[in-house]
Amino acid sequence: MLPFLMLATDPGRFLHSPLGVQLVTYFPQLDTDALIITAGLFAVAMMMLANAASLLAEVMRARYAHGLGHWLQLRLVRHVLSQPYAYHLRRNSSVLTKTIVNDVDRFTHRIVFPLYDVFCCVSTSFFLLVALFVLEPWAAPLAIFALGSYYGLVFRVLRRRRQGVSQRMNAAMQGQFFVLGQLFSSLKMILTRHCEAFFAKRFGQSSSAYAGAATLIPIYSSGPKYLLEPVAFGALMVWIIAEISAGNDVMRVLPAAGMVAMACYRLLPSLQLLYGRLVVLTSMRHAVDEIVAELRDAAQAAPPPTSPTSERPLSWQRTLELVDVTFTYPNATTSALRQLNLQIRKGEFAGLVGATGSGKSTAADILLGLLEPDEGQVRLDGRPLGREDMPAWRERIGYVPQKVVLLDTTIEENIAFGLPREAIDPERVREAARVAQMLEFIEGHLPHGFQTPAGECGAFLSGGQQQRIGLARALYFEPELLVLDEATSALDNDTVARVIEAIRSNLDGVTILAIAHRLNTVRGCDTIFYMHGGVIECQGRFDELTARCPGFRRLAQLGEATQEAA
Ligand SMILES: Nc1ncnc2c1ncn2[C@@H]1O[C@H](COP(=O)(O)OP(=O)(O)OP(=O)(O)O)[C@@H](O)[C@H]1O
Ligand SMILES: [Mg+2]
Repeated sequence: MLPFLMLATDPGRFLHSPLGVQLVTYFPQLDTDALIITAGLFAVAMMMLANAASLLAEVMRARYAHGLGHWLQLRLVRHVLSQPYAYHLRRNSSVLTKTIVNDVDRFTHRIVFPLYDVFCCVSTSFFLLVALFVLEPWAAPLAIFALGSYYGLVFRVLRRRRQGVSQRMNAAMQGQFFVLGQLFSSLKMILTRHCEAFFAKRFGQSSSAYAGAATLIPIYSSGPKYLLEPVAFGALMVWIIAEISAGNDVMRVLPAAGMVAMACYRLLPSLQLLYGRLVVLTSMRHAVDEIVAELRDAAQAAPPPTSPTSERPLSWQRTLELVDVTFTYPNATTSALRQLNLQIRKGEFAGLVGATGSGKSTAADILLGLLEPDEGQVRLDGRPLGREDMPAWRERIGYVPQKVVLLDTTIEENIAFGLPREAIDPERVREAARVAQMLEFIEGHLPHGFQTPAGECGAFLSGGQQQRIGLARALYFEPELLVLDEATSALDNDTVARVIEAIRSNLDGVTILAIAHRLNTVRGCDTIFYMHGGVIECQGRFDELTARCPGFRRLAQLGEATQEAA
């Protein structure tokens, strides 16, 4: 740029300068005007080149940082998904969401991005130092020593405070995700209890704590810059006073002090930038700690295989058993299951009943291999199932959990759960809905039939309809064993009878284990297991149990009383 301006403003003078002479020897055929145009074009080309290089560097940096973020997030999600069910029982989903989304985002934006600046600062400072050594050989080390000690000292003194900021920001962010998770899952309750202010206040406490902690970062990162002037001036004063008291001539030392001050002045911007970036970087330490802890925690949990890896044939002809199964939840003081024994024959309709908290869902989770028993085994035709068999075993089971959670997508995708759109068989979806007694409603009442959205957590459907979509979901995959954990609890008696009848007549040879409170669901069962306190207290057909099992009889009497009252 400068040669062009010099050439354009005073060509005569420039052409006689050493650079001008060289230019003329390179381009002897060009006259002055052509030289001016060439120099201008060259300057523009150089500028474009330099800017293109800067843009490329920015794009590369963004690509690397975001690519790393994407890789980390995917790794975390895969880790979380490959964990056993027990791992999720002790984790809070909001906190996991925060780590996957927010901590990784902070890591890329506040750590990876600044790292590039740190690298630039270090290289700029290095070149500046070399230049300073050339210009002011003795002042440069002094300047580096003075500024380096100052920033080093401040960095060290503020170490604990920065850690505190990092901790507080992390806790506050965790609090925000936690409250939001609670808020959206309890919206109906919040509105009916009219306690919006309570949740808004709790969220506000976390967000204000975050804002308060985040405000300290610029104080710690830029503060030293503003403190430097008085500190430097003070140091200069002390030096001058010391020289005067020693009887030296102040005028003699002033030029030297000036040189050091000038060297400091030149170094300051790069050092300040370096220091500022390091402060931000170290203040985000918790984001890294959380990600590392999550990955380590997940790795230590020794995940079971996620794909059907079992080499053994898992077909069974006679019995499915739980043998001497004992299980205690990690934070519980009493066992949920105690030496539980249960045998279901292939093709039978079995019922599992018992008071609330007696261990029915836990037994189902063990049967599905979601929980591993502390003692005892799950056996097929007498052969125990190992941990590696469980994914393949689960593929054969249709499971309707006690709380059906629908996805915020179409009814069709909810039934063909986990399949991409193009892999869904609409005829199978229709058939599953028909058996679950939902076909008439879906085709007759929903505006877009199977393509109607279900809403968040199935909000556009009634509780009983949600349950039947859950049932259709289990039936779509044509299971050998159907485990229904209170799957018909929200249905009326007529619908329950029709659902059970439809399943039995349409799914040839399917084995059903129906867990229920209401005994009319299990009245037609081949075998009913009555559970109490984590053990099977008695088993048999409905009439047999009414005759010889006092607990079951009480349950049956209560059920009849409730039905009469209704
Ligand atoms: N994640 C858990 N952590 C600790 N204890 C648990 C956990 N889940 C269940 N329990 C306890 O284990 C016992 C059995 O629970 P389970 O859910 O199997 O009962 P249930 O028979 O299915 O009850 P319900 O009929 O109410 O569904 C209960 O005492 C319960 O409090
Ligand atoms: Mg239960």
